[in-house]
Amino acid sequence: MACRTTAGAADYLVAGLTMLEYRGYDSAGLAVSAADGSTAVFRTTQRVNALHDLAKAWGGPSLGGIGIGHTRWATHGGVRVANAHPHQDCLRRLSVVHNGIIDNAPHLRAELQQLGHVFQSDVDSEVICHLVEDALATTGDLLEAVNRTVQQLTGSWAIVVLDGETRRMVAAAHRSPLLVAHSDRGMFLASDVSAIADWVDEFHILDDGDVVEVSDDLVWLRDGVAVDAPDPIASPTQTSGRRLDAGDHMASEIDEQPEAAARVLNDIGSLIANGALWRGLGLPRFDRLRVVACGTSLHAGQVIGAGLSKLGGLAHSVVVASEAAGSVVEPGTLTLAISQSGETADVLRAIEESPPGAPVLALVNNAHSTLARKVGSVLVCPAGPEVGVAATKTFVCQVLMGAGLVISALVASGRMSQTTARALVDDLAQTPERLAAAADSARLALPGVIQDVRSANGFIFLGRGAAVPYAAEGALKLKELTYRWAEAYPAGELKHGPLALVEDGTPVVVVDDADPRLVGNIAEVSARGGRILTIGQPGSRIEVPLSKHSPCGPLEAVVPLQLLALNLAADLGFDVDKPRNLAKSVTVD
Ligand code: AGP
Repeated sequence: MACRTTAGAADYLVAGLTMLEYRGYDSAGLAVSAADGSTAVFRTTQRVNALHDLAKAWGGPSLGGIGIGHTRWATHGGVRVANAHPHQDCLRRLSVVHNGIIDNAPHLRAELQQLGHVFQSDVDSEVICHLVEDALATTGDLLEAVNRTVQQLTGSWAIVVLDGETRRMVAAAHRSPLLVAHSDRGMFLASDVSAIADWVDEFHILDDGDVVEVSDDLVWLRDGVAVDAPDPIASPTQTSGRRLDAGDHMASEIDEQPEAAARVLNDIGSLIANGALWRGLGLPRFDRLRVVACGTSLHAGQVIGAGLSKLGGLAHSVVVASEAAGSVVEPGTLTLAISQSGETADVLRAIEESPPGAPVLALVNNAHSTLARKVGSVLVCPAGPEVGVAATKTFVCQVLMGAGLVISALVASGRMSQTTARALVDDLAQTPERLAAAADSARLALPGVIQDVRSANGFIFLGRGAAVPYAAEGALKLKELTYRWAEAYPAGELKHGPLALVEDGTPVVVVDDADPRLVGNIAEVSARGGRILTIGQPGSRIEVPLSKHSPCGPLEAVVPLQLLALNLAADLGFDVDKPRNLAKSVTVD
């Protein structure tokens, strides 16, 4: 993030970085112009709001309106202040913030060290400062120096370079999002428009290979050649008012699920059974579905794919986005890229590597995201902003949007009758109520459950058929929030090895959608001393109203699974909104 304003850069940067903290919160930093021509640098391994205190406590010359800022998710080098951005060159004249990974950094670092450059950090990004330093010494022009520098880099970058001596600022991007905007308040740069949407009405997006001088008249180079700035895009209405620095986001996001589900059904309910949702996308008929996603979005994709196969008899595959390279895309395949943020680098790369012309549909929660911009057809979930790092309400919305999409596509292609579709939509319409009841039921049972499992080091999650993705989602939530091992398996697979993990008291969470085969699997675990926690059909430890006909399988069971992870993590004293080592959106490969 960066700004060029008349005053108050530190305030703008801290406010913007707070919105960007979902990208990572291992450390944060600012470099701000000061009245005497120097640059003040503040860095911390605490959260962004600590920068506010550092800038307030600054006793040096008064701080001005030009600055750059960063919030980091560690890739190269541990979490320590020296590795926090901004980084500087040997002379402390240039300050640089960088998102992405410089793949050839080890080689460049060795070369620069041979030339006498002294490095202060372990991070790949620092090579950029020293390369620009050398190029600036030769060219005397920051724009040209950055342009020459990026030609030596391989990997991905969104960078802003601030020259403390001249106050010039140059940005560049390649395979990492970056946008620039100007308004009557000044110039702003950010990797996501949410950081600056309060202050600008429109913005320009840097394309791969762009280098831009951030002055009153933007000087825009594309692959080294001066071009006009790309057409501006209208900025979204800001979502602020929401206190991103306050806690308890995940808890409220879980609570909001019935409301969010109702919003989805309100938006698309009337477009499903008549096929209009599908037809409105303008996509060709497909014979198989290939889902590409990561983490929780991948689990939503598993539910959606299974729904398509069950209801329409069409084949589906679910591909972990980071492993999508080389996966075969047969003719007649629709690729469904699912990403809450629309910024996950693994998903973006997977889509870039799809065969040219193969149809791709994106399911995102952010209409302004990079994925939404890259892909021709987009469905936007009306989940609203999700701040907690663990995805909750966006999962529920993805599943419902996906179910609506599948039914609509089957109707539009003549594979399902409108009568069948209407019955499914009527069932979906009950989802908000069922989600609310599931939450009530979980809240009653969980205090006792937490007592039983709080000292357990490892958990197993089981399900069969449509319940398997929910078991996986429960395990993922538990891992990311409580830092306990949690493994999910199709229940029938347990006896093929993982059963060896079960000992006296091992918690085994079963998503029980009344599949009769679960009875035997539960008995096998109990016989070895496992502590069974069933979630689902009547008689379960946590009873959840499930529909036998829902195209989403036992969706409502996800609420107790989320609350189990949340409550156990809170009981153990962990930060549920910002779990260790994670980021809401992972923007590197
Ligand atoms: C979910 O709780 C995680 N935070 C994570 O698995 C997440 O779902 C994954 O990184 C994908 O993110 P996306 O949906 O924004 O692409």
